[in-house]
Amino acid sequence: MPTVAELLADASTLPGESARRDAEILLCHCLEKSRTWLYTWPESNVDTAQAERFSSLLASRFEGVPVAYILGRREFWSLNLQVNEHTLIPRPETETLVEWALSLSLPGRAAVLDLGTGSGAIALALASERPDWRLAGVDASEGALQVAIANATEHALSNSRFFLSNWYEGVAGQYFDLLVSNPPYVEGGDSHLSQGDVRFEPVSALVAAEEGLADLRELVSRAPEHLRRGGWLLLEHGFDQGEAVRTLLHQRGFTQIETRLDLAGLERISGGQWHAE
Ligand SMILES: C[S@@+](CC[C@H](N)C(=O)[O-])C[C@H]1O[C@@H](n2cnc3c(N)ncnc32)[C@H](O)[C@@H]1O
Repeated sequence: MPTVAELLADASTLPGESARRDAEILLCHCLEKSRTWLYTWPESNVDTAQAERFSSLLASRFEGVPVAYILGRREFWSLNLQVNEHTLIPRPETETLVEWALSLSLPGRAAVLDLGTGSGAIALALASERPDWRLAGVDASEGALQVAIANATEHALSNSRFFLSNWYEGVAGQYFDLLVSNPPYVEGGDSHLSQGDVRFEPVSALVAAEEGLADLRELVSRAPEHLRRGGWLLLEHGFDQGEAVRTLLHQRGFTQIETRLDLAGLERISGGQWHAE
């Protein structure tokens, strides 16, 4: 029977920048152990069934399938979320949007809408932190919605609801204290689309027309139809789209416009307030 150390050595040529870490995560999954356990017991023998399971997961990873899709899970904020090929894999930079949303001074029972919710990551992070807020998440993908609903159920976040909608179409006549969105914002043909994990993510979650700005434009232009006075709109965007999004917000009449940086120091989230009191 192979040892933990031998199995991890076999995985040293995995693709990507985090080959060792990916292999450890996959082995932990097969053994139902923590990474600390792997470091503590590298000479432990792994039984044949578990080693074979590890080898089949490694084969998927060698084909480039993201670890999150292989395991069907990804951590976001404090939540371990289900993900699959219908959802974007939630990114750490999106946590900047969650932090900003939580820092706003909103009514105690604020109504919040997450547009393009995917796995429900943003809506569920906010629902978990603010039990009195009422979260709605919409997406145009039925497959993504099923995942968001499963995540809400698994984490017992009953202050959240999810439904199918092409951006604002499904919330006609409804008003919110906060609108949040991480919409598609990559320009079609961007070289990143053919590299790494992104190759396996839904194109409809990533790509937008008009140099990646089409969905951001629509979200900004129709936001005032759904914002209460003093409400906020927070949008994630590409590192080079901050100025364009600030201009859109300004032209639409938002105030308090600001852009926040992600952990890499890049412009990532822009937002503004609608008719402050
Ligand atoms: C970049 S992903 C963000 C997913 C999730 N909010 C997150 O941060 O992990 C964009 C999401 O917008 C959804 N989407 C794309 N076009 C849409 C539309 N017209 N109406 C509603 N949702 C849409 C996609 O299906 C996808 O789930």
